[in-house]
Amino acid sequence: MCGIVGILGQGPVAGLLVEALKRLEYRGYDSSGIATLEEGQLQRLRAEGKLKNLATRLHNHPLQGHVGIGHTRWATHGKPTENNAHPHASAKVAVVHNGIIENFQELRAQLQALGHQFVTETDTETVAHLITQKLNEGLGPVAAVAASLKLLRGAFALGILFEGHDDLLIGARRGAPLAIGFGEEEMYLGSDALALAPFTDTISYLEDGDWVVLRRDSAEIFDAHDKLVQRPRSQSLASAFLVDKGNYRHFMAKEIHEQPEVVARTLAHYIDLSAGKVNLPFELPPEMVKMERMTISACGTGYLAGLTGKYWFEKFARLSVDIDVASEFRYREAPMAPGAMMLVVSQSGETADTLAALRYAKAQGQHIVSVVNVPTSTIARESDIAALTLAGPEIGVASTKAFTCQLAVLACLAIGLGRMRGVLDAQEESRLVKQLIAIPGLMASALQRESGIEQVSHSLAKARDVLYLGRGTNYPLALEGALKLKELSYIHAEGYAAGELKHGPIALIDETMPVIVIAPSDHVFEKTVSNMQEVAARGGRLILLSDAAGAAGTGLDVTSIVMPDMPPEFAAMVYAIPVQMIAYHTAVFMGKDADQPRNLAKSVTVE
Ligand code: AGP
Repeated sequence: MCGIVGILGQGPVAGLLVEALKRLEYRGYDSSGIATLEEGQLQRLRAEGKLKNLATRLHNHPLQGHVGIGHTRWATHGKPTENNAHPHASAKVAVVHNGIIENFQELRAQLQALGHQFVTETDTETVAHLITQKLNEGLGPVAAVAASLKLLRGAFALGILFEGHDDLLIGARRGAPLAIGFGEEEMYLGSDALALAPFTDTISYLEDGDWVVLRRDSAEIFDAHDKLVQRPRSQSLASAFLVDKGNYRHFMAKEIHEQPEVVARTLAHYIDLSAGKVNLPFELPPEMVKMERMTISACGTGYLAGLTGKYWFEKFARLSVDIDVASEFRYREAPMAPGAMMLVVSQSGETADTLAALRYAKAQGQHIVSVVNVPTSTIARESDIAALTLAGPEIGVASTKAFTCQLAVLACLAIGLGRMRGVLDAQEESRLVKQLIAIPGLMASALQRESGIEQVSHSLAKARDVLYLGRGTNYPLALEGALKLKELSYIHAEGYAAGELKHGPIALIDETMPVIVIAPSDHVFEKTVSNMQEVAARGGRLILLSDAAGAAGTGLDVTSIVMPDMPPEFAAMVYAIPVQMIAYHTAVFMGKDADQPRNLAKSVTVE
């Protein structure tokens, strides 16, 4: 969504605000801005487009001031123009905002009737004028914010600066994350710990409904009922993770190449490597032994990881799985047998739809298990069990290493549940765990195919549409491949169950339509070869991801990307590598921004 930051400093803050925004740019990057107090006067600087445009503007027009707020935007209300960039301000108040104020039109009309003049289309500007109205009615800044928060509806995080108040910064959190950083006679606000890592590693996370009054020597946190509360301070690990590209051209390339390491680290968290069996770092409730069904819900790539997990839960734990995208699940009013498991999958742990699905399921008496990459995230904190992926910060907006780490956790959960339910014997568990332990090495081997994959990708750049086909767990991977290609290269792509080709999509096939088939030589390979023959017979261009036997066994004129030989159960974790690389190299060849594709944001914290 958007990233917000605030600094109450001992020295000039403008440059520090921009530095902090660089660490938040993955949350949104269609415009940005900062505001500071220069001798008590509000000063603003904003720019359309990438953050580097703001940095250039600041270089040409330096801002002074030892207190300020900053924002990097993913537009929800109003086009991504400079005028709509945050901070938004009235005469006395500047505001940065992440989220949506759902009743802003109604408030705006009331404020206009009181004489307030608006200059933007945004919901955020309403907040600045609402607080100003409370000041005009004689309230002080703190009381004005308290009164205003009671009138706002929606999900938001706010940073608020007041003309004439050099030692005051107010933040508020309702449905979108906000952290406080504690420095030496300095205080910070940020959407997450990453933004604050250059300044401090002592962090507190506000709870939903909290708001905070920061002065250089104090932080007063109030809950939704304006009661003074304490929130725990923790040492943030964010600064431990180097957030830089290293020798790679893009974060996405780095994160694709990190997968053997981070998947190995994640597997080691769930497997007793010496005993060769799953060793979950938490107790699953005993009710799960006899539950008949479980539910999975997530969004985007998280959903496709969950869809892959469905095959494993059904096969290894003999559990029926209902799965739906969270934006549908949250409104379906699905009946749920109490005491069963709801599993949500989320890299950021802040996706609004996924959080809403979690809350619905919790109200239905489900045990909530989340597969999540940010242990301090809202989803992690509202789960009964947070099964962590140890992917480290994923900066590229298109999810790569988080996806394969999610698959690693889901595979271990399915095996652990299978043993717990008495439907997976020790020998079979040992066989499967041996396969999992081999995955990082196979991933490293798959990475060696990059130059061949890059060549194949260049041929896709001219395509108008691309079709991905797969069976079994390679079907969700076909969907993921299509999602990756769409979100990175902007080429339209669809993923399909290979067996469905003849039920409609075959009408699309002609010589202009590349068809990417994900098919290790497993028990359904021959069926997929038949689908490939149907494509070839209509002049379609075939690209096959398979192992050596598969590549040699089609008898067709195909472009093959030959993957290492491996058992089929977890092949999707390894075949994810070429799928990700195809999207990445196609996008780069087309001159697209692989780390920050247009219109996207890393974490969608609004509906
Ligand atoms: C993945 O490449 C996309 N950027 C997007 O679909 C993402 O997976 C989705 O928004 C869910 O995000 P989450 O995992 O943080 O919940």
